[in-house]
Amino acid sequence: MKIAVFVSGGGTNLQAIIDNTKDGILKDIEIVLVLSSSKDAYALERAANNGIPSAVVSRKDFASIEEWDDAVVKAVENSGAELVVLAGYLSLLGPKIVSKYSNRIINIHPALIPSFCGAGMYGIRPHKAALAKGVKVSGATVHFVNENYDEGPILLQKAVDVLPDDTPESLQKRIMQECEWKILPQAIRLIADGKVEIDNNICRIR
Ligand code: GRF
Repeated sequence: MKIAVFVSGGGTNLQAIIDNTKDGILKDIEIVLVLSSSKDAYALERAANNGIPSAVVSRKDFASIEEWDDAVVKAVENSGAELVVLAGYLSLLGPKIVSKYSNRIINIHPALIPSFCGAGMYGIRPHKAALAKGVKVSGATVHFVNENYDEGPILLQKAVDVLPDDTPESLQKRIMQECEWKILPQAIRLIADGKVEIDNNICRIR
């Protein structure tokens, strides 16, 4: 299966996918496009280091959402990707890409949805909010993407304990290492194997 990975920043989730295509559970998966919302994303270097085609498609470079949305659709179509993986991608997708790739776009969110998600809940913020609430577990969620932030059907979740001396940074690091870098490749595997069904907004894994 061919996939496109959308990024905005450091790209450690992209790296986890790349590593699994080389020596892990995604050996039959080809990353045909890394699309970044920012020209400064370190994820672009990770793509270049691994010979993966990349493109920068920034909302601010287009006069309207429609034109930007069209450019995103075109980039994915030209790549031949069958699945779009949002891996630390910070823009809300436009309506055309979401409807054209309905049930073929997944996102990783660094909290247990429906907690600590939605507009503005990115980067360190979900972890700050989790500690401020005093939750005893947090984690990560892979979900399908619809036109709203963090709202589509939930595919996989993994939790870690919140420790008494956690800082937002230590919690973020543990969730990345123990949850995100594992369940995002696992989600791609399940979809590639045709094991995921969506029924009435609920994901079932066969
Ligand atoms: C991750 O925590 C991801 O869950 C969130 O943004 C962060 C991106 O990290 N959506 P990276 O760019 O994959 O290192």
